[in-house]
Amino acid sequence: MISGGGSNLQAVIDACETGDIHGGIVFVGSDNPDAFGLKRAKRHGIPSFVVDYAKVIRRYKADPASVPLPVDANLGALRDKTRLFPPDADPKRVKAFMATRLFAEARMIEEMAAYSFDLLILAGFMRNLTPYFIDRINIDPELPRIMNIHPALLPAFPGTDGYGDTYRYGSRIGGCTVHFVDYGEDTGAIIGQRAFEITDRDSLEEIKKKGLNLEWELYPACIQMFAEGRLLLEKRSHTLKNGRTFRRTIVRCLPESPS
Ligand code: GRF
Repeated sequence: MISGGGSNLQAVIDACETGDIHGGIVFVGSDNPDAFGLKRAKRHGIPSFVVDYAKVIRRYKADPASVPLPVDANLGALRDKTRLFPPDADPKRVKAFMATRLFAEARMIEEMAAYSFDLLILAGFMRNLTPYFIDRINIDPELPRIMNIHPALLPAFPGTDGYGDTYRYGSRIGGCTVHFVDYGEDTGAIIGQRAFEITDRDSLEEIKKKGLNLEWELYPACIQMFAEGRLLLEKRSHTLKNGRTFRRTIVRCLPESPS
């Protein structure tokens, strides 16, 4: 799934073609009809589809009734499940978000039904996903199969401008993260990370370039580990000195099997 230039998509296409990823891309989806990544897919003969989120959002603003909920969506349960909003979020804003995203996600699921796939890769896809979509893709809760790449060393700097936030904060190290997608924004279990040094001379553009070059290595490597069945989820809990228990699901990357 893409929204823009698709440089990560290109890195994955190339890795499939060189055999660094034992697999192939069966479709490319986008929320943005103008995403340059769609041209990359076409160039490599990969079928694609677009679900124009911006159009759905405009339609909802003009006439909410024209964006009905999917018949199998339980809004209350989904509102409770998602971690995209704090408990005190404005209900009107949450309703508009959920109504438009569920409508778009139902369309994406319809489009994806035409393909059989093992892993869904978000590659510069700039939309948050609701549990409605996530639960229909993660058919085995023990084996999540939606991956995302984020332009920062999570949990630092979640959100839409990881490299920019890193640069503006004055961090000395920047990086990127590949993680499984969960119900929050950029909060899922971390699969891999790469880091780079930031010098006083680096501009934001140079930081983005350093980061993207690492993304194009990291993402194919994480996808290949998934293909080799080397990614396992492990529930960890730590009881802290103050008696609180910190629980988190983490990813264990098994060593390569001796070939
Ligand atoms: C990348 O920095 C990625 O980390 C973020 O979106 C940016 C653009 O990605 N999610 P791409 O060139 O469209 O793959």
